[in-house]
This record gives sequence, C-alpha cells and structure tokens, in this order.
Amino acid sequence: MRVTVVGGTGRIGRLAVRRAIAAGHDLTTLAGHASPEPGVRSVIGDVRDPEVMLRALEGADAVIAAIGPRANTAEEAAIVEHGMRNLVEIATALGVRRVIVLSGAAVDVSGDRKPLLDRLASWFVRRAARHVVGAKQREYKVLSASALDWTALRPPLVTNGAARGYRLVLELRPGARVTREDVAQALVDQLVDPTYVRMAPFVLPGLG
Ligand SMILES: NC(=O)c1ccc[n+]([C@@H]2O[C@H](COP(=O)([O-])OP(=O)(O)OC[C@H]3O[C@@H](n4cnc5c(N)ncnc54)[C@H](OP(=O)(O)O)[C@@H]3O)[C@@H](O)[C@H]2O)c1
Repeated sequence: MRVTVVGGTGRIGRLAVRRAIAAGHDLTTLAGHASPEPGVRSVIGDVRDPEVMLRALEGADAVIAAIGPRANTAEEAAIVEHGMRNLVEIATALGVRRVIVLSGAAVDVSGDRKPLLDRLASWFVRRAARHVVGAKQREYKVLSASALDWTALRPPLVTNGAARGYRLVLELRPGARVTREDVAQALVDQLVDPTYVRMAPFVLPGLG
C-alpha cells in the first residue's frame, strides 16, 4: 500500500514510518524536515499549504496523520487544525479515503466513558497544554465532520521503551499509559483494519 505519513519526522510519526516500511508499505512523509529513513519519499513543507499537501497525498492509498505543534502557543497549535482541514480537503478531492489520525485521550468524543481519574488528568493536561488540547479537539471536529473513512487513535500518557503489545478499546482504563512504539504499530495496523472506521478508540497496553 502507498502510505503518506503527515508529521512523519515526529517522535511517533517516525516510528510509524519505520513500522510501515517493515509491514511492506511504500512510504511518503510530509513534515518540516526530510525523513531519515532510507527509501522514503520526503515532501518538505507546511501542512497548511494546499500545494504541499497535494504533492504529499497524490498517488496515496491511505494517510496517517501525526501532526504535533512545535510549541504550546495558540499560533503553533492552530497549525494542527488548519493542517487537518487542508488534509481533509485534499484527500477528499483525490479520493484518498482511509485516514488514520494520532489524536489523544484528552480529546473528548460524544458518548465517551472516561474514569474520574482520567477526567481529572484531562483537566490538568488542558490547563498545562490548553492550546495543544484545544487544537487537537478542533482537529477531531474537522476530521469527524468529513466523509472520509477516518479512525482517530487516542493514546493516554505515552512512554518510551519497547513495544509490548496494545489493544484498542472504547472505554478508558484509569491511569493507563502506553509506549510510543505500540501507538506507532496501532497506527500502521489500522491501514488494513476497517473495525474502527469513523471511531476514536483509546490505545491501551495489551493484556498479555
Ligand atoms: N497522550 C496523548 O494525548 C498524546 C501522546 C502523544 C502524542 N499525542 C499527539 O500526537 C501528535 C504527535 O505527537 P509527537 O510527539 O509525535 O509530535 P512531535 O514529535 O512534536 O512531531 C510533530 C510532527 O509534526 C510536524 N509538523 C509540525 N508543524 C508542522 C507544519 N507546520 N508543517 C509540516 N509539519 C509540521 C513535525 O515536522 P518537523 O519536526 O520535521 O518540522 C513533526 O513531524 C501530537 O499532536 C500530540 O498531541 C497525544
């Protein structure tokens, strides 16, 4: 499958690129820098620029979006929302239907069942990173209003370290944390899994 990873040089995006290559996919990245991975086609530019997005998505079968603001300021955080609007418009125009987005557990979705501990944690995250969380909430709004076959993955606290296995659930477990490697694998696995189309599951550690 030809896959474009938007934000493919980020902490999670670059792990997703590596894992997508290992899964046999053909990779393009769009970010501010070139991908260090050999064999990857790099489009360097701004996610808000329609011409840049068009170059990155042309010929793709699916997209993974792992865009993150470079700072917790209103201006930087707004890039996430504007980038997603651009991505949705270009993907829709090109007929690239499958879009998997790295969201976060602090993003609220109607019908959510979040334990009190996590609602408190979300409150603290919102206070500490209010611009980022607000932008990721608006990113979700843009995505979920689209007609694309989207899936938004919502990890709780992320950690470094090796992959241990993950599971996707619709109910958050109190105080959960998951490794970036597992989140990256979950993004890649969604490329060929329609179970969570138009849904926003949480990414939790596996039970094994
Ligand atoms: N628990 C949680 O809720 C949780 C945990 C982890 C991550 N996340 C979310 O996941 C996202 C990604 O996380 P991360 O840690 O992997 O982020 P990161 O390391 O900051 O990477 C961000 C990526 O976005 C790209 N980017 C930023 N602004 C851009 C622009 N204007 N044009 C083009 N590319 C741009 C960066 O490109 P360059 O660096 O090449 O310029 C980089 O590839 C974040 O939005 C974060 O909120 C949520």
